[in-house]
Amino acid sequence: MPYGYTTDPELDRSTNRVMAVGVLLLVAMAAAFPLYLTYEPSSREAAREAQLASLAEEGDSIWEFNCASCHGDSGEGDTAPALNAEQFLLSAGDDQIALLVSVGVPGTQMNAYSQDFAGPLTSEQIKAVVTFMRSWEEDAPDFPNWRNP
Ligand code: HEC
Repeated sequence: MPYGYTTDPELDRSTNRVMAVGVLLLVAMAAAFPLYLTYEPSSREAAREAQLASLAEEGDSIWEFNCASCHGDSGEGDTAPALNAEQFLLSAGDDQIALLVSVGVPGTQMNAYSQDFAGPLTSEQIKAVVTFMRSWEEDAPDFPNWRNP
């Protein structure tokens, strides 16, 4: 009798049952996968948007207390450059802005804001303020002279 072959009908039946259940499970998982593909990215996208919105909200108050006095309430510029200008927002990436805010511009009124450089803000707070500044981009005014408002 070849290996794997049995004449025991009880064993045959139970083996067949286990295989049938396995096949059913496999089919169920294969059917569920497209559903997962449909719902998972949209819930991830919603979570990402919610996180960005709460960062921007935190950044709004950080801006008000730390930046508005020189750069204006809505970044329109005052004694310091207009950072809501299209020319600034389109040319600077988030990382660049965060780095500049962290280290400041030596020899100017623009201080270092990172706690790593004796400033008041954590890196998370700097990220929040950059996210808030990014929210201006949608209606950023065209302002070529943004450095000297
Ligand atoms: C005391 C005034 C003052 C405050 C407060 C201030 N800034 Fe500035 N900031 C300046 C000045 C002046 C400059 C221009 C520096 C120069 O001459 O390059 C500047 C430049 C910048 C720039 C660079 C623009 C460029 O030239 O690319 C960024 C970004 C910036 N500030 C962000 C911030 C943020 C964010 C805050 C709050 C956390 C802040 N600033 C608070 C005065 C200020």
